[in-house]
Amino acid sequence: MAVKQKLMTTLQDIADQVKACEKCGLCKGRTNSVPGEGNPNADIMFIGEGPGKNEDLHGQPFIGAAGKFLDELLEGIGLKREDVFIANVIKCRPPGNRDPEPDEVQACYPYLEEQVRLIQPKLIVLLGRHAMYRFLPNDLKISEIHGQVLRRKGIATEMQVYLPLYHPAAALYNGSYRQILHEDFAKIPVLLKKID
Ligand code: URA
Ligand code: SF4
Repeated sequence: MAVKQKLMTTLQDIADQVKACEKCGLCKGRTNSVPGEGNPNADIMFIGEGPGKNEDLHGQPFIGAAGKFLDELLEGIGLKREDVFIANVIKCRPPGNRDPEPDEVQACYPYLEEQVRLIQPKLIVLLGRHAMYRFLPNDLKISEIHGQVLRRKGIATEMQVYLPLYHPAAALYNGSYRQILHEDFAKIPVLLKKID
């Protein structure tokens, strides 16, 4: 009798692959890779840039100062982390938090793509320009389109709704982004209702 085959990749499979991944040079400097975490049935997926120091130490996304602000933004619209899925473009911390190189982003992208395919979120919130340029044309400027809803072909669906926002870390350096982020976040519940 044939051995029963495992047909479905799960989010846990992806997390396991990411934890063991050596597809780019960032594997050498990491303490832990950070696959992402949250509700597998989430309506909303948040995508950041990549792990910082705290994330690398603990293997979880957005748990440092930017993460605390993200929690505050979520709470402001009545959501908890457990309601959404939080991931990053790059799963291992670049040394000294430098920008990820194009070849590193390229090597890592299939993991994020597969996460999006499995979760099939109604809304993808792109936090900062690194996440934005993975999904949207690179002639767009985040200063011009933050908080605007964009619809285009998705990874797994005919139509995907994207909301590009400033990265929460930007608000740590420049306080004026705090208010902008709160205002842009306030659009999320309304938008979700419209998508339904
Ligand atoms: N910044 C990011 O983009 N992602 C994290 O997980 C933490 C900080
Ligand atoms: Fe693998 Fe991505 Fe980590 Fe590179 S950054 S080693 S591709 S998980």
